[in-house]
Amino acid sequence: MREDFKKRFPDTIIHPNCTIYEWVTIGRGVKIQAGCILVPNTVIGDLVFLGPGVITTNVKYPKAYKKADGFRGCRIEVGAVIGAGAIILPDITIGEFAVVGAGAVVTKDVPAYSTVVGNPAKEIDR
Ligand SMILES: CC(C)(COP(=O)(O)OP(=O)(O)OC[C@H]1O[C@@H](n2cnc3c(N)ncnc32)[C@H](O)[C@@H]1OP(=O)(O)O)[C@@H](O)C(=O)NCCC(=O)NCCS
Repeated sequence: MREDFKKRFPDTIIHPNCTIYEWVTIGRGVKIQAGCILVPNTVIGDLVFLGPGVITTNVKYPKAYKKADGFRGCRIEVGAVIGAGAIILPDITIGEFAVVGAGAVVTKDVPAYSTVVGNPAKEIDR
């Protein structure tokens, strides 16, 4: 099974200067370009592409003086593409094969197969 998978999907590649915290799940055949920050409880599905400098977050109202009462990372589903420098707010789901444009700030769930751009990210026709 594993050998069959390897034939169909390339290995996961992580480029330099990424910060990947504990409790991050990364699938197979993923490409993570340089300088991404993946905070705890982020889930990256198979075949996801993260452009350079993508930032995930996991606390909506962070405070310097109080411990967060839980970390709600984002889920990026199979085959989704996240453009360079995009920021994904906590507890967001980016649906399978969706595309997030470069520089987007994603504040709401992104439907599968859709494309969103801008701040706040909005769907465009493609
Ligand atoms: C999101 C993306 C895939 C859209 O590509 P596309 O479907 O060919 O869209 P278009 O270039 O035709 O643009 C459609 C509209 O969205 C706007 N748009 C496109 N990308 C945008 C972005 N990242 N942020 C804000 N607006 C964007 C365009 O200005 C255009 O607006 P208009 O209709 O008012 O003129 C592409 O622009 C993008 O951001 N790709 C990611 C690139 C990247 O980060 N690569 C990483 C590896 S180097």
